[in-house]
Amino acid sequence: MRSEAQLTTAGQVIRALAAAHQSAGLYPVGHPERLDHARSVVSAGAALIAGAGGQEPTVFVARGGFYLGTVLLPRESLALGRFAQALAAAGVESITFTSGLRVEDVDALAEVTRDRAPLRPELGGLRVNLVRPVVRDEEPWEQRMGELRRAYAAGVTALRQASSRALAGEPLDLAATQGVVEQLYDQVSEDPGYGLLLSAVKSYDEYTYFHMVNVCLLSVALGQAIGLRRDQVLVLGLGGLLHDIGKAFVPAEILAGTGRLDEEQWRLIQRHPVDGAGMLLATGAGLVHPASAVLLEHHAAYDRSGYPELHDHRPSVPSRLVAVADCFDAVTSKRSYRQPLGRHDALQLLASSAGTGLDPHAVAAFQGLLGRFPVGSLVELSSGELAVVVRQQAQLPEHPVVLLLFDATGSPVEVEERDLAAERPSGPRIVRQRDPEQIGVDLPRFVASGQLHSLPGVDRYEPGSGGLVHEPAPGERAPEAYVDTHNEPGGHHHHGQGPGHGHGEGQDAGGAAIDPDVAPPFDPPR
Ligand SMILES: [Fe+2]
Ligand SMILES: [Fe+2]
Repeated sequence: MRSEAQLTTAGQVIRALAAAHQSAGLYPVGHPERLDHARSVVSAGAALIAGAGGQEPTVFVARGGFYLGTVLLPRESLALGRFAQALAAAGVESITFTSGLRVEDVDALAEVTRDRAPLRPELGGLRVNLVRPVVRDEEPWEQRMGELRRAYAAGVTALRQASSRALAGEPLDLAATQGVVEQLYDQVSEDPGYGLLLSAVKSYDEYTYFHMVNVCLLSVALGQAIGLRRDQVLVLGLGGLLHDIGKAFVPAEILAGTGRLDEEQWRLIQRHPVDGAGMLLATGAGLVHPASAVLLEHHAAYDRSGYPELHDHRPSVPSRLVAVADCFDAVTSKRSYRQPLGRHDALQLLASSAGTGLDPHAVAAFQGLLGRFPVGSLVELSSGELAVVVRQQAQLPEHPVVLLLFDATGSPVEVEERDLAAERPSGPRIVRQRDPEQIGVDLPRFVASGQLHSLPGVDRYEPGSGGLVHEPAPGERAPEAYVDTHNEPGGHHHHGQGPGHGHGEGQDAGGAAIDPDVAPPFDPPR
């Protein structure tokens, strides 16, 4: 078993290698920028070697992801999909780090991955393909997750590029983002289960991008579940993927800040819907791209208590659907002011603002989609085994499809998919939810990697340690003093709205379907 510290170090090495690869695309050999990145690889590589206890550590590139030994490095695999592709295209299947590692070796490897030098097995302190990954046959569920992870990685890459283009004053590459949405759509439309499961992934380095891909996955699954047409779901997906893209203009130190926001910072954050919609409009694709409504209105709130202010109409149907997905993903993430909510509690929070901040029909549809034991939650079976829910079966809420993780003695098992409905009546059923943290399971990481690890500690919420700023989603109530208001109480009427003020009036909305033909994106005023 690899220690968490080793996995973290391996992640740093890969990120540094990716940066070296990128700068090699921009600068000639010997450029100071390139040398800087190569030096980071050398120092991270030295740490990796030092922690390997006398062995020479090997990083594998397989199935579009990165592995240290047999352990998948989930965040790097999801965030650096492009780099994994470049390595694979250059024929690099493994990189072994030896103690003689020098800056020139890293540069030589970058020339190979840039396709400017032939692949050689010996690059000084780096050995390429010294060992080959042993790729055993994947279970069907692993294949599904593998394909989804690649689509997810493409989403993160597209968003990273969209932000840097925005900052450079260039228009969005709409074709690239649409391509990503179609990939995710293809995956989710086949089977929403694993898409919903993968949406439990979080990143604390690139929170906003991961959040946007998650909201895309959730929105697409929701659109499908209520019977929207493909073209309508794609608009929803694009809106979900880009909904926070306007945050490209919010300074990183505000987004990564700790503690309360001052009013100026809060004003900057509140601009992102308008900025994002503007970016989409500026592409000139169709006079008004239908997804721009989603970008503009995702914080406007169903009861119009949010921002920006809508004068005579509620947010459009796609905006209301994406708002539910946005709220769900936001509250299940670690925030600057509190722990992430479990998936079940998050659904309750949505329910409490149905009819006020959120569209009650959209909330009901979302609850129906995730199910009584929400997809992605850890459950205990009547057999004593522990499993994670993958696919809900509406008529048999206690018998979903699950991935079995632990046997009745609490020992990890070879993960396998089990259809509890098919095992009735003698097979197990769900008896209760379990708190992953109590049991020491890092579910987001399991979802990202398919492998069980103990909790890493680094990404856990420690009160006072700061965290992430994500503006309260519609329906969510910010804590008191989320914004430091000094002495001007009227400045941000938004933040008193939210759960706690709701009356649960959306609860009886269960049966009412959303008419798929209520033309997105622009509803008639009502
Ligand atoms: Fe937002
Ligand atoms: Fe968001």
